[in-house]
Amino acid sequence: MPARLVVLASGSGTTLQAVLDASADPAFGATVVAVGSDVAGCGALKRAADHGVETFAVALAEQPDRTAWNLALADRIAAYRPDLVVLAGFMRVLAGDVVRRFRIVNTHPSLLPAFPGAHALRDALAAGAERTGVTVHWVDEGVDTGPVIVQTVVPIEPGDDEDSLRQRLQAAEKPLYVDAIRTLCQEYR
Ligand code: GAR
Repeated sequence: MPARLVVLASGSGTTLQAVLDASADPAFGATVVAVGSDVAGCGALKRAADHGVETFAVALAEQPDRTAWNLALADRIAAYRPDLVVLAGFMRVLAGDVVRRFRIVNTHPSLLPAFPGAHALRDALAAGAERTGVTVHWVDEGVDTGPVIVQTVVPIEPGDDEDSLRQRLQAAEKPLYVDAIRTLCQEYR
């Protein structure tokens, strides 16, 4: 049986798309059973629907508070009985109760612990770093603080701006994340 993945995303969903494309090969060993978001109508949800994958959105603004949002999101995730929850540009921090309920992996566009948070590219450029990279890590209740699974280095070239650096990072990130998910899913077989 392929491992059951629930993917959470907030943005355009190019990372999700890489996972969806990889899962078309049975040797990948995992299938995306649902895609969830905190942003109704985001690109990732559209990509999932185009792919015939079930979707759900739980917006923070529609919940009484952050605790209720975490619980509502976790209940939606749990309904799909995931073996692994895959964050793919999901831009909110999950509460401890949620991260302890599931096995959750994330990909982050820096060499953690350097440049955590929502502005990793901007922060790396502002710091004048000559290199940055991508980190795949387990998710805990901190901001990009969980145990590292794998990292890869990406150079910052003179004249780079956020767009050019993003392109180089994401070209490295997609195969790294897909390979990491494939490896993690082998234990569910
Ligand atoms: C990815 O590069 C991912 O590393 C980053 O958001 C991008 C999502 O792109 N995640 C974070 O910064 C998490 N802190 P996408 O919407 O095109 O998949």
